[in-house]
Amino acid sequence: MYRKEFFVFDQDKPVPVVIRNYEEKDFSDLIRIQQESFPPPFPSELWWNEEQLKNHVSLFPEGALCIEVNGEMAGSMTGLLVNFDPKHPDHTWEEITDNGYIRNHKQNGNTLYVVDIGVRPSYRKLGLGKWLMFSMYDVVVHLHLQRLLGGGRMPGYHKLANKISPEQYLDAVVKGELKDPVITFLLRCGRTPVKVVANYLEDEESLHYGTLMEWKNPFSHSK
Ligand SMILES: CC(C)(COP(=O)(O)OP(=O)(O)OC[C@H]1O[C@@H](n2cnc3c(N)ncnc32)[C@H](O)[C@@H]1OP(=O)(O)O)[C@@H](O)C(=O)NCCC(=O)NCCS
Repeated sequence: MYRKEFFVFDQDKPVPVVIRNYEEKDFSDLIRIQQESFPPPFPSELWWNEEQLKNHVSLFPEGALCIEVNGEMAGSMTGLLVNFDPKHPDHTWEEITDNGYIRNHKQNGNTLYVVDIGVRPSYRKLGLGKWLMFSMYDVVVHLHLQRLLGGGRMPGYHKLANKISPEQYLDAVVKGELKDPVITFLLRCGRTPVKVVANYLEDEESLHYGTLMEWKNPFSHSK
């Protein structure tokens, strides 16, 4: 099981942090984080429910991580294992995560797929999201997987959707001409774009587009 204890910095002040696997006793905190992290117009039926969380901790507990700051739950990240074929990259969030229930988790899969990451708004910009991501990279290396993969929302896209295509938007974010709250965050975490997928997730702000972004295990040399 995973446990990491260290400090993050709030301005100049070190604050104690723990990253660990989440368990049943954490469920109510995790559901509250989801509500705070994904406010409307994000659809509330996509917030975690107890049944999904039970599946996460029983089917793939290694991929169920949370982060505590000063003993308070501040964020979480969840994944499952899938067999990803780079020649057929297209999929929706619903298909590949079984709508967040992960009953399709493949113990021998080659790819850790990110179901979700969220940090409570009052704890943002402390680097917690990045630490969660790096901890999931540890899991990828530990389990000898080929990559971590997930679809990033692109919530800034709706502001420019009448002017540019989602691919042009992604291109501008990668060039640094635009900043997107999720895609820029994922780039800063070391994730690289694979492709834009239409109808990836019900998400008005992104006009339902998502950008698949991966992190390759540096110890795995398969294509
Ligand atoms: C995306 C999210 C998890 C980031 O969490 P966070 O803890 O604030 O992020 P971090 O502090 O680790 O930021 C990591 C990097 O991304 C940058 N970043 C964070 N939020 C950003 C934003 N809104 N816009 C641009 N860059 C951002 C930070 O500057 C930091 O860069 P640095 O390490 O070079 O300084 C959080 O904003 C969130 O929960 N969003 C809502 C839920 C969501 O959309 N999840 C993604 C679903 S695909």
